[in-house]
Amino acid sequence: MKIALLGFGTVGRGVDQIISERVPDVEVARILELPDRLTDPRMTSSYDDIVADPEIGLVVECMGGVEPARTYIMAALEAGKHVVTSNKAVVAAHFAEFAAASAASGAGLYIEASVGGGIPWIASVEKVRRIDEVTSFSGIMNGTTNYIVDAMRREGADFFEVLAEAQRLGYAERDPSADIDGIDVANKTIISASVAFDVACEKDLPVTGIRNLRKSDLDLLAGCGRTAKLLGRGVCRDGRYAAAVEPVAVSLDSLEASVPSNFNLVTLDATTVGELRFYGQGAGSLPTGNAIVQDVLDCVRGVRRPAYDFSRGLAWDPELLRSDHVFRTEATIPGSEPFAPGAVVARDVTAAEARALLDAALEVDPTTFMAALA
Ligand SMILES: NC(=O)c1ccc[n+]([C@@H]2O[C@H](COP(=O)([O-])OP(=O)(O)OC[C@H]3O[C@@H](n4cnc5c(N)ncnc54)[C@H](OP(=O)(O)O)[C@@H]3O)[C@@H](O)[C@H]2O)c1
Repeated sequence: MKIALLGFGTVGRGVDQIISERVPDVEVARILELPDRLTDPRMTSSYDDIVADPEIGLVVECMGGVEPARTYIMAALEAGKHVVTSNKAVVAAHFAEFAAASAASGAGLYIEASVGGGIPWIASVEKVRRIDEVTSFSGIMNGTTNYIVDAMRREGADFFEVLAEAQRLGYAERDPSADIDGIDVANKTIISASVAFDVACEKDLPVTGIRNLRKSDLDLLAGCGRTAKLLGRGVCRDGRYAAAVEPVAVSLDSLEASVPSNFNLVTLDATTVGELRFYGQGAGSLPTGNAIVQDVLDCVRGVRRPAYDFSRGLAWDPELLRSDHVFRTEATIPGSEPFAPGAVVARDVTAAEARALLDAALEVDPTTFMAALA
């Protein structure tokens, strides 16, 4: 089959390399590139050339961002072309719309690379769902923040020092907000919850990142046998579901605590299969390219055709995600108890209530750090 790539950056180049070296039955025939960078005869800067070409059966979108990615994906699906995308921002924002367009035209929608990079997470969740209810999932889904926390712990360095090193190594963007404020994990959590629970997931979930994590917080948690990891989590029970993104103080002997460098670890619990864990490279040109090419092959060889049905009618209920939350702050946290010098604990609050307590504390002490006790 002839396919087109939209975007020729880190991921697009990885896809092109894997297909040219290892996949003889697929040809990257067209590449959408910006007008000043048309360096390859396959390149065009006109999306119309691609969407109107009857020889192109599948479009791989790896440009990033919401627009024009959304418009291009919708145009491809409406033209009956299969779509494979690694773009979590556009899928999280428009998943239901894409699923409806895919169902209407019969063109496939494949999103494996949008969560967990090279880890076969989405296809595995879909497979589990053929038999089971997924009752919960939880994961380290962002390699940049895991790299930062891991390096802070190993090297005893502080947050901004390690962030600068991560930027030097190309693990973190020049503007790191999407990673360190939890936005990237929020998009992946929305997508995971949608696939795991068959629901168009609520977008306004509580989201807290690790911007205010300091070495002293890791020292304090280590004294209690814990460390901090940024987790995306979802729970589904009795016709209700909830999801959240927040730092979680996990036990030092948990698998999450031992995830090194920029690796990811995602876990699900389901009715008959029980607990499953998926570990690997959550980003990078070739791992992410691999996930895309797996989707392309599933489509081209007729192995797998995802069908996303969000009509299950689950109710959003933040009460499902309750735990104790530790705050390191100079502000007063209403209803809290002492936890350690400089830190208090708010018992049995929802992730949404904890986020509201954090917002109020940040007004008084902008350095406040919060973590859920797993
Ligand atoms: N990198 C990873 O490891 C990874 C892993 C999983 C998922 N993803 C996702 O995959 C997507 C691509 O990531 P990436 O790291 O490959 O980004 P990237 O290196 O910035 O590549 C995207 C490319 O698309 C180009 N582009 C943007 N708008 C375009 C347009 N309208 N027409 C043609 N080209 C356009 C960009 O050009 P300019 O740079 O000039 O804007 C850039 O060359 C993102 O959604 C990202 O979240 C990435």
